Amino acid sequence: MEEKGQNALEVGKEEAQENKESPEEKSWRTLKYPIWLVDSMDYKVKDIKLAGQGDLQLEWAAMHMPALGEIEREFAKSKPFKGRRISAVLHVTKETGVLMRCLKAGGAEISLAAGNPLSTQDDIAAALAKDGISVFAWSGEGVQQYNEHLQKVLDFDPDIIIDDGADLHALAHSSGKKLNAIGGTEETTSGIHRIKAMEKEGILKYPIVAVNNANTKYLFDNRYGTGQSTLDGVIRGTNIFIPGRHVVVAGYGWVGRGVAMRFRGMGARVIITEVDPFKALEASMDGFDIMRMDEAAKLGEIFITATGDVDIIVEKHMKVMKDGAILSNTGHFDVEVDVKALRAMSVKRRKIRENLEEYTLKNGRRLFLIAEGRLVNLGAAEGHPSEVMDLSFCNQALSSKYVLDNESKLDNIVYKIPEDIDRRIASIKLRTLGISIDELSEKQKKYLGAWEIGT
Ligand SMILES: NC(=O)c1ccc[n+]([C@@H]2O[C@H](COP(=O)([O-])OP(=O)(O)OC[C@H]3O[C@@H](n4cnc5c(N)ncnc54)[C@H](O)[C@@H]3O)[C@@H](O)[C@H]2O)c1
Repeated sequence: MEEKGQNALEVGKEEAQENKESPEEKSWRTLKYPIWLVDSMDYKVKDIKLAGQGDLQLEWAAMHMPALGEIEREFAKSKPFKGRRISAVLHVTKETGVLMRCLKAGGAEISLAAGNPLSTQDDIAAALAKDGISVFAWSGEGVQQYNEHLQKVLDFDPDIIIDDGADLHALAHSSGKKLNAIGGTEETTSGIHRIKAMEKEGILKYPIVAVNNANTKYLFDNRYGTGQSTLDGVIRGTNIFIPGRHVVVAGYGWVGRGVAMRFRGMGARVIITEVDPFKALEASMDGFDIMRMDEAAKLGEIFITATGDVDIIVEKHMKVMKDGAILSNTGHFDVEVDVKALRAMSVKRRKIRENLEEYTLKNGRRLFLIAEGRLVNLGAAEGHPSEVMDLSFCNQALSSKYVLDNESKLDNIVYKIPEDIDRRIASIKLRTLGISIDELSEKQKKYLGAWEIGT
């Protein structure tokens, strides 16, 4: 790709914009780092004029992602992705933007599409397009456009495929298109289920690193990140008062634990539904009420599904819910609340406010659905705070490098994040937080590895 000078203004082929300079555009021209505009670059964003605003958000996020900043500086020197193409499907948030800049600093050419039709922050998409990243994303894009955008990033002919939910991995394997991918990564639990199923069938065409399964990912992102951002999404979607409310959380995995913990922190009476006896026992000993959804449906005032499973709240549950009950989902796909059934059961549907719809049922009760039953923290809020995505995206950055460094050594299976990478990320993060911890002495190491010394 040919790079042009900093002052050239060129817009994507698909969405030509008026070439008048707004104050926002002036502000991106004054940025300290160079902006490369790429000849023949292809992108599709809502409004390229939002780039200046996006740049400010990216600066704000980067300030809170110091560990990834350290990796970016390393990449800027060593250029591990020089001449390589990366296709990514991630929620186009400011934190994803910081990751894209990190990979670009490492020499990558990048094509990016949204991980969900509702999750794109349009100012970030614009800023990244201005950076020379081939972005295909806008908030509120339809499912058909979402799929077209996946195809676009696949057509980029990537060396590395970064995915969140495995829609791109699935397309790469089903499209019949010749693949040159060296390997990939996967961000979330639901995506891991899918790539594991592909591995089981023996159809994986490239190795994939399971980023989600790193300690520095699921322990923090899934639990604390989703805990805070889901609460944020429910509040932004409804501005409802939480204390004293009966909040039903379906699933007590890493996400459910975080959500339950944070709603309890706000004074909610949290009820858990589960299918796993260990998780149910753990939830019980953590002090939550556990019951079947059939019972919880009658009591709940706010519902949040967090299972990664299908059909968690279905017609029979919605029929017995209280008037005014609020439904939401924070699992990856919009399959947990049966929105189709909700529509079919309703005699009236109204948009009440941004991201909140009212459904009046035949029995006269009104149910409220946030963000169409899609990820509530990304649909109705901004996703996880930057501090926690710092950890997740260090994993994405270093896993992408790992795939390249080990090209031809890896089989077409799902890989765990190597422990040394996981530990390194934890150590960098601790250092950036100004936290230092003790080290094992030689005597302690010996003691912990021996069996002879007892009572
Ligand atoms: N909103 C976000 O930003 C975000 C972040 C991380 C993960 N996720 C997604 O959240 C979902 C959960 O992820 P996780 O890491 O907690 O997974 P997990 O496997 O740790 O937990 C899922 C839990 O749901 C339970 N479950 C499954 N089917 C159930 C059913 N029918 N009824 C009740 N409980 C049921 C399982 O027993 C398990 O305990 C996934 O879809 C994941 O991709 C979302």
